[in-house]
Amino acid sequence: MNILQINASARREGANSTRIANAIVARLRQAQPSARVTRRDLAVTPHPVLDEAALGALFTPADQRSAEQAARVALDDALIAEVQAADVLVLGVPMYNFGVPAQLKHWIDAVARNGVTFRYTEQGPEGLLKGKKVYVGLARGGRYRGTEADSQVPYLKTVLGFLGITEIHFIYAEGLNMGEEAAQQGFAQAEADIAAALA
Ligand SMILES: Cc1cc2nc3c(=O)[nH]c(=O)nc-3n(C[C@H](O)[C@H](O)[C@H](O)COP(=O)(O)O)c2cc1C
Repeated sequence: MNILQINASARREGANSTRIANAIVARLRQAQPSARVTRRDLAVTPHPVLDEAALGALFTPADQRSAEQAARVALDDALIAEVQAADVLVLGVPMYNFGVPAQLKHWIDAVARNGVTFRYTEQGPEGLLKGKKVYVGLARGGRYRGTEADSQVPYLKTVLGFLGITEIHFIYAEGLNMGEEAAQQGFAQAEADIAAALA
């Protein structure tokens, strides 16, 4: 089993979402000690934004790209190869201003590539990343589980589902900025969610 862990916090150290992602990976490895883990920390290696130059590079045929364009596409290719090689994805995702961190959006913009990870058919879009499981460790200062203010969960379900990934488990650590007791409850809830997701 290949596990790919993506840490999306802007913090390299002490990130709550990374703590939850680590706990999920530890539990997965308990069940499968031979599992291989690849970690990509987007705070350590930020991925560049999908800007005009990046789009230009992507839409230029490979044999006509400048060295700079080829290098830009290669950055995205590396992320795609990691996802393709993974059986299980573990995402550590803080809530920033009611959405996902910009770095996670950059990762998604890199990984979603027409003809590679999805394609359009006469019947509509088809995701090409099939047969993978995803565990998403969510870290939040407040509590938004199951409310309309939670745009993260529907967004991740939609975009991962579009890529063909439909088995998604969400692990919630909430109320982390609401005082010590609430934070302890939030981490305990995450533990319970992990146990339920991996039962
Ligand atoms: C820039 C920023 C924006 C945030 N926005 C929200 C928010 O919209 N809702 C929320 O519940 N918490 C919000 N928080 C709190 C974080 O979600 C919380 O501190 C979480 O533990 C951060 O995850 P991390 O420790 O993995 O970086 C925000 C924190 C930061 C730094």
